Amino acid sequence: MTLLRDEDLAAAFSHAARSYDTLVAANPGYHSHLRRSVRRLGLPRYGAGLRVLDLGCGTGASTGALTAVLPGAEITAVDASAGMLERAAAKRWPDGVTFVHASAERLAGAGVTGPFDAVFAAYLLRNVADPDAVLATVRGLLAPRGRLGVHEYALGGRRADRAVWSLVSRGLLQPVATVLGDGPLYRHLWRSVVAFDTADRLAGRIRAAGFDRVRALPLPGWQTGIAHTFVARRADGTSGAAR
Ligand SMILES: C[S@@+](CC[C@H](N)C(=O)[O-])C[C@H]1O[C@@H](n2cnc3c(N)ncnc32)[C@H](O)[C@@H]1O
Repeated sequence: MTLLRDEDLAAAFSHAARSYDTLVAANPGYHSHLRRSVRRLGLPRYGAGLRVLDLGCGTGASTGALTAVLPGAEITAVDASAGMLERAAAKRWPDGVTFVHASAERLAGAGVTGPFDAVFAAYLLRNVADPDAVLATVRGLLAPRGRLGVHEYALGGRRADRAVWSLVSRGLLQPVATVLGDGPLYRHLWRSVVAFDTADRLAGRIRAAGFDRVRALPLPGWQTGIAHTFVARRADGTSGAAR
């Protein structure tokens, strides 16, 4: 089962960038689910004075959820795909939103330094070659008791969860994406979910990376049992980086 990684994945996302917003708009609840996951971080209302990292911001859907829920926060939005990031940066954003072209594995080299009050990663972790290394980096960027929000396709334990995912992904998304010339990326999407952690396993992985108060929360609609919000807190009282 071959998955796209690193430069190949970034190139596939750049190719898909022009149709990405149209495809996600056809996914019921895509944007409202992202906002729900941001609210689940439990940050102070409006987020005034907070620094938040949006890791794998893509065309800015997750960034939009952050600005909607936390309009007072300073947001650094990072993505490895130049094409996705270009789409995001071309949109209108409130003051305090900055876009950075970097991979999650090379944040320091791109000048992305902590501490952040929260890190939000929507549909990112399943795509990276070494999720444990990325979680360790994220932990190091967080302030003491900083919040982690992972919004991710991670299947529940039921056999039906995988069946629904395969039906939606292979039966609906892949045919449309193939017509648009993005078949390889959407075949990667199906495979990456099937090959990735179940929700329980991902919660355990986050805990093992040095987070506590880890919770896996279901999302509504057809994504129940397929996508979850994982919320967690940096476990110890020491900061990983100086402001
Ligand atoms: C499915 S999109 C999600 C985008 C956005 N967070 C959203 O909610 O719509 C995943 C994004 O993660 C980015 N990505 C994948 N691997 C990455 C990595 N190692 N470092 C940074 N970004 C990465 C991709 O380029 C893509 O834009």
